[in-house]
Amino acid sequence: MLTKKHSKFLNSKQFHNLKSTVINHRYSCVTLSLFLFILFWFSSFLFSFRIGKQPLSTTTQSTNHNVVAVSTPPAACRTGVLVYIYDLPPEFNLGLLEDCQHLNRFTNMCPHVANRGLGQPLPSLGRGWFATNQFTSEMLFHARLESHPCRTRDPSRAGLFYVPFYGGLHMSSRYREPDPVVRDVLALRMVELVVRLSPWWQRRHGRDHFITLGRTAWDFLRESNGGPDFGANALLDMPAVKNMSVLVVERQPWTGMNHHGLPYPSYFHPTTWGEMLTWQDKMQRSKRPYLFSFIGGARTGGGANAAIRNEMMRQCGASPRCELVNCAANGSKCHNPEKVLGVMTRSEFCLQTPGDSFTRRSTFDAVLAGCIPVFFSRHTCYTQYAWFLPQDWRSYSVFIEAEGLTPKKMKKIEDELMKITTERREKMRSKVIGLIPRVTYAHPNGTTLGFRDAVDVALEALGKHIVN
Ligand SMILES: *[C@@H]1O[C@H](CO)[C@@H](O)[C@H](O)[C@H]1NC(C)=O
Ligand SMILES: *[C@@H]1O[C@H](CO)[C@@H](O)[C@H](O)[C@H]1NC(C)=O
Ligand SMILES: *[C@@H]1O[C@H](CO)[C@@H](O)[C@H](O)[C@H]1NC(C)=O
Repeated sequence: MLTKKHSKFLNSKQFHNLKSTVINHRYSCVTLSLFLFILFWFSSFLFSFRIGKQPLSTTTQSTNHNVVAVSTPPAACRTGVLVYIYDLPPEFNLGLLEDCQHLNRFTNMCPHVANRGLGQPLPSLGRGWFATNQFTSEMLFHARLESHPCRTRDPSRAGLFYVPFYGGLHMSSRYREPDPVVRDVLALRMVELVVRLSPWWQRRHGRDHFITLGRTAWDFLRESNGGPDFGANALLDMPAVKNMSVLVVERQPWTGMNHHGLPYPSYFHPTTWGEMLTWQDKMQRSKRPYLFSFIGGARTGGGANAAIRNEMMRQCGASPRCELVNCAANGSKCHNPEKVLGVMTRSEFCLQTPGDSFTRRSTFDAVLAGCIPVFFSRHTCYTQYAWFLPQDWRSYSVFIEAEGLTPKKMKKIEDELMKITTERREKMRSKVIGLIPRVTYAHPNGTTLGFRDAVDVALEALGKHIVN
């Protein structure tokens, strides 16, 4: 309902022109594939229908003796929709990192933006583990896309155009700037470059363009959001950006028609399917002595979210079946990946109460730990991550109504969770563990993963969203 496709744009003449280009392109690929298959793989001819639909990547085309690379799915662009990455000046992305000490008022971001946003390695947890900061989705996406099999360096072959603007990091470095014009200037320059100076924008008025943002949509909606000024810029209010798809860790759930929820990063960035399977297996077998847990800080102020959160923390603290990590009392524990994962792998259910906004990075840590998330607002997950999580939220999560209720009227969490049978719990946990690959940002250097990670899922969804 909130993610209506832009189907009205798909009847335009331009679309038909584009479609015939795509079809012609497919035919030439089919011809090439057929040639190779008749020569080398005669008996498996029927498979060439599936493979022939995938345009060959530039590299495999130039070295077409490499038949194996063409027919092995992970090395090819599976969706067949190629992505062009705009070559923006460094001030829009990696250049921002030169000032990493001032990208965030509360945190020195230098260790966090290292390794293309993976952060510092965690050798004690193994290869593929990093102390990844919650705001780095935009960087991880960019890094992974650069060596993705669907990347093309030829914009005329691209079905999707990625604008690598680290809007979230830039926003947090400017939010104390009193003059809104100064906050917006880089976004305006981005629009200028992409809209006015790029011939590829005009083709579909930007419908095939997208950006990724590692902070919530609220940080970019100064004009439409109204309310008190907390430092937002107006990136997502700009008409050009409204024509693009915006992949963002928290969408504006009511008006953000072009916003699509993007997972927050967690700590696991594997390179191979083997690493993923090993972890999934470990989570399946993890002993979970606690029924539920909560990791977070209390909130002051009179907001409804604060009241819900504080009541949940009170309930958790009062129950011997709940493990509570109160971040306000000792913040360092909450940013220690081993501690966080330790708590989550010891419990069956992980409470995800809204905090400063609806969504939480913690939801994705919980999935990684095979801990069934418990939500208290639909906007913490269900209206956010439609591309990544099953529509049937009952299959992987628990919902306890809390919105609009006073703390006294809220249900007792422990009682609600005790009602769930062991059998159902096991089923839900398996479902959660099965979701781990889809919400994981694979290591950007892992080009032949053998599983579909968050970037693969996003590209496939974008391809369908834009082309169909
Ligand atoms: C990816 O590989 C290159 C070349 O080996 C290396 O320089 C780079 O640091 C790697 N990237 C990350 C994020 O580790
Ligand atoms: C946005 O798309 C509409 C068509 O849907 C077009 O008229 C408008 O010019 C586009 N805006 C920009 C800035 O390209
Ligand atoms: C916070 O926790 C860490 C480790 O968990 C501990 O070393 C430190 O002393 C604690 N600090 C306070 C103020 O409790």
